[in-house]
Amino acid sequence: MSLAVYPGSFDPITNGHLDVIQRASRLFDRVVVGILVNEGKRPLFSVEERKEQIERALGSEPEAAGRVTVDRFEGLLVDYAHRRGATAIVRGLRAVSDYEYELQMALMNRRLADAGGHPLETVFLMAHESYSYLSSRLVKEVAMLGGDVRGLVPDHVAAALSARRGQSS
Ligand code: PNS
Repeated sequence: MSLAVYPGSFDPITNGHLDVIQRASRLFDRVVVGILVNEGKRPLFSVEERKEQIERALGSEPEAAGRVTVDRFEGLLVDYAHRRGATAIVRGLRAVSDYEYELQMALMNRRLADAGGHPLETVFLMAHESYSYLSSRLVKEVAMLGGDVRGLVPDHVAAALSARRGQSS
């Protein structure tokens, strides 16, 4: 059974992330969406909220049913991937600008995994081109300034963003 971990902050999940999850679920028997627990990043949504948002979004994707699960992790990604029995890490690539950072992470993770005796490959997937400009950071910025983010994130995430804006104003 092939298992991949799709790690990230997912603060919040976007339709670009969901597109990558769907593509990954066609390549691997199981996909674990791993939310990094990192309060240092001062996330807008708690890990629990993000987990619920992702699970709800996946609920409306029959293709992912049962084969995609959502989890949280702390510490090194390679250690988490090993504990889960993963042989691959999935990351989405949008534009050339993503490449440098992603290459650094992939090579560092490969080095760490090889040194630990548990080889792990990073697989890059391209989300649909219509999401090539989409990021959680921009979605948050636009939503917090009152812009319309419908169509960029699941409807329940757009509603959560607008509720968060209401609380902060
Ligand atoms: O969605 P993001 O914020 O781009 O995801 C980054 C993430 C979670 C993949 C990365 O920060 C990570 O793997 N963090 C875990 C700690 C770790 O293993 N660091 C070394 C990576 S080379």
